[in-house]
Amino acid sequence: MIIENVINNEVLDTLIGNFESREDQHKYTMGMEKLDDPWHLRCSRNSNYTTPEVSELLKPILDQYIDTSTNVGDTYFKHYLPYFPHADNNSAFDTINVLIPLQLSSPSEEQHFVVFDQTNTEQSGATWLGGYDRPGNFQHNKKRTYPFHDSTVAGCVSEYVDQDIYDTYLKTSSRSRELFRGLSIDQVYRWSPGDVIFFNSNQIHCSARMSVKWKLGLSLRFKGSLEDK
Ligand SMILES: [Fe+2]
Repeated sequence: MIIENVINNEVLDTLIGNFESREDQHKYTMGMEKLDDPWHLRCSRNSNYTTPEVSELLKPILDQYIDTSTNVGDTYFKHYLPYFPHADNNSAFDTINVLIPLQLSSPSEEQHFVVFDQTNTEQSGATWLGGYDRPGNFQHNKKRTYPFHDSTVAGCVSEYVDQDIYDTYLKTSSRSRELFRGLSIDQVYRWSPGDVIFFNSNQIHCSARMSVKWKLGLSLRFKGSLEDK
């Protein structure tokens, strides 16, 4: 589900400034620049108690659509390369992902984000890398190869993903068509600052191929399931 034009420019600028002002706390993993756990961060580094927390800015907006009382994960992320298909399951209960696009390197370009129908049935996150093998700090307990050949993926279809969809949104040098075999599209969302995208965390999802140099977003997770709504 997408709610369009619900985050105003003032809130967007505050969140972007919050990320940029804490560069010394940024982490780099899998080609992504992150700032973890911003939900309860104050939006200014000055110890000024009139400055709201990120949660205080966003709760009044998000509470219109989901219950945000139990936050179980949150990070700012900036990346230059499209991420692999993955799911963000929690070990103990269902969760909802909330994706808030904040900034594109070229605001006039169209960037997209893809959510598939298929789900991860493990009680932990998983990322499907296909034949790509990246050593280093990636969490290997989350690493998988191809969804179509993985018994932990529920709902695979027998067909390959449509060639036009693959060419337009999914294809990159490290993401072969085989990587998307068995997956079908739930939604291709426009990745547009001001909008908020909601989906169940166990649904496989990935960045579309990059039409911009980089994008900055805020990803939040809350206890619950969209079917409960
Ligand atoms: Fe994710």
